[in-house]
Amino acid sequence: MGKSPVIVTFKMSLRDQLDTNKLPNHIAIIMDGNGRWAKQKGLIRVLGHESGTKSVRETVEACAEIGIKHLTLYAFSTENWNRPKLEVQTLMKLLVKSLKKEIKTLQDNEIKLTAIGCLKDLPEKAFNELQYVKEKTKNNERMTLTLALSYGSREELVNVVKELSLKVKNNIISAETIDESIINKHLYTQNLPDVDLLIRTSGEQRISNFLLWQIAYAELYFTDIFWPDFKKEHLVEAIREYQNRERRFGKTSEQLT
Ligand code: FPP
Repeated sequence: MGKSPVIVTFKMSLRDQLDTNKLPNHIAIIMDGNGRWAKQKGLIRVLGHESGTKSVRETVEACAEIGIKHLTLYAFSTENWNRPKLEVQTLMKLLVKSLKKEIKTLQDNEIKLTAIGCLKDLPEKAFNELQYVKEKTKNNERMTLTLALSYGSREELVNVVKELSLKVKNNIISAETIDESIINKHLYTQNLPDVDLLIRTSGEQRISNFLLWQIAYAELYFTDIFWPDFKKEHLVEAIREYQNRERRFGKTSEQLT
């Protein structure tokens, strides 16, 4: 009697599925579609956000595993304060809960947590928890996870203009010396490189006041998947697509080769 064949399946690591020489250094994500995901399932909106936190975890883990250095997540915009009070409260509670729950994972994986936005607008509990996790993880160097909270790009740029005008007025700098690098140094993202890949879930194709300056040369990737359904394989798919794009930064194809 012949032996039955042994079938061996290999599960490729996330890194093995990608060209590790062409990884985006900075990925930013507009996590959209929590509400529609919930509605589709006959659930209330806040359950969509709760489920969305699982995708946050999965994406952070995947980025660390792949070797992405910077991940920025649009968690709450300046405009989101206008949502129903219960939804805003739930989002803030989810933030506190996630920070408390994930601090160990951040430490174990050497991930530094930072935040951008008008953080003083956050409820005290959320603000304090955020400061605590930022402080605890500040020396981690494997990856930076940045949460955009009460963030609006136009507000960020208005602040830069105000700060620079004051510096000119007080003779700290002269108007002629203002250049891109000075502007970069006054943005919330002063310690982050430009975005290489911007992902938006849920089928919407707009930027919604997110990192307008920082995405100048980012590759944009839109997927119909709702954020709570966004899994590691979807991230790999987005990075694969990024790796197939030719980034010319204004040059011609011939100049690149
Ligand atoms: C957009 O979906 C999502 C948000 C406004 C919030 C994103 C928040 C989370 C994923 C959970 C908390 C985050 C952290 C970092 C712990 P939407 O409500 O606009 O969906 P819709 O367009 O379908 O209504």
